[in-house]
Amino acid sequence: MIILGIDTSCDETAAAVCENDRILSNIISSQVKSHAEWGGVVPGLARRKHEELIDHIVEIALKRSGKTMESIDAIAVTKGPGLAVALEVGIKKAKELAIEYKKPLIPINHMEGHIYSALAKNSKGKPTIEYKLPLLVLLISGGHTELVLMRNNGQYEILGQTLDDAIGESFDKVGRILNMGYPAGPVLEKIAENGDENSYELPIPMKNSKDLNMSYSGLKTASMKLVNDEIGAMNDYGAKFVASLQTSQTLSRSQKQKDLKSNKNPATLIANISASFQKAAVEQVLFKTNQALRKLENDGLQIQDLIIAGGVAQNKYLRKKFRKTFPKLRIHYPLNKKLFTDNAGMIAIAGYFNALRGNVITDVHEINRLDREPNWGIDSV
Ligand code: KG4
Ligand code: ZN
Repeated sequence: MIILGIDTSCDETAAAVCENDRILSNIISSQVKSHAEWGGVVPGLARRKHEELIDHIVEIALKRSGKTMESIDAIAVTKGPGLAVALEVGIKKAKELAIEYKKPLIPINHMEGHIYSALAKNSKGKPTIEYKLPLLVLLISGGHTELVLMRNNGQYEILGQTLDDAIGESFDKVGRILNMGYPAGPVLEKIAENGDENSYELPIPMKNSKDLNMSYSGLKTASMKLVNDEIGAMNDYGAKFVASLQTSQTLSRSQKQKDLKSNKNPATLIANISASFQKAAVEQVLFKTNQALRKLENDGLQIQDLIIAGGVAQNKYLRKKFRKTFPKLRIHYPLNKKLFTDNAGMIAIAGYFNALRGNVITDVHEINRLDREPNWGIDSV
């Protein structure tokens, strides 16, 4: 089965083609630079960019896959969750194609897509992925922090989620006041490598709660206060140091080493704050994942597989911690960089699994009626 996938849920215009669970092409045009100067996604701007790009991105995705619209079996499109004005662009395009080429339409939940991002194979059918259902999913991105039980394809239960900020959002906000640009997550991780994660004890908000919900706003606020107390306004040296790590230039290695020795210099403070923040941020998802596994075990469910997906799953420190904490679990991550962030490959693969269980729309009136659902929870797919 050949599926064309489309995703315009946030600030990436994306189209992809898959054949069953194999990705043939996965094209993403990121608007991240357009939104960077605002420090976050600007909805109206996102819509305009999607409108400008969508036709071209779909065309390239088809071309790279070696397929034509005629040879596509169905079109999968993200219906939600996401930004309403952005989702509308992808849905409109998918409807037009479905009607013009008389193809079925498959509405996809973006979070379900993120789950399948870890089960996607390359065009050669590699790697072989062994897993047993039910499995546990940890979705960690700029917009989401969720623990989901996947009982079966299409059967999801949200076990816990953030009550306020998402984990990636907290990386971005703490990184922003440290002049790390946007998105700050990967930069903060790199800078934290030079720091001592035990220099500051930051709060892990939901550690004493019995439920599986999480919270990142308290950690974010505490970290921002710490930055203020320790550094005050970012001075020139601090900004230069951060810039040098982003571009791998300016400060020489010996200079960096020397600077890091003195506790008083901003480089050390930034690295130490970053490392302490990262430790606390990761500790919360680690702790809640453990709590979820124990809860499921008490309910008689022996989980053997854990999927960790979403942008923050790229964090190497986090991966190391999970590997160490859960040596018996099979932990699955997406296959490549594109599949971590928002992309349409995962939407196409989710489309394939939805099509297998007949979850497609063929009636033209129903296709026309399909509308975005910006707050669509994965537990009501
Ligand atoms: O899934 P994703 O591309 O998109 C949205 O949620 O929209 O995730 C992006 C998020 C950003 O918050 C970014 O800072 C974070 O993932 N991120 C990271 C790392 N790489 C990306 N956070 C921590 N460490 C990283 N290495
Ligand atoms: Zn996403």
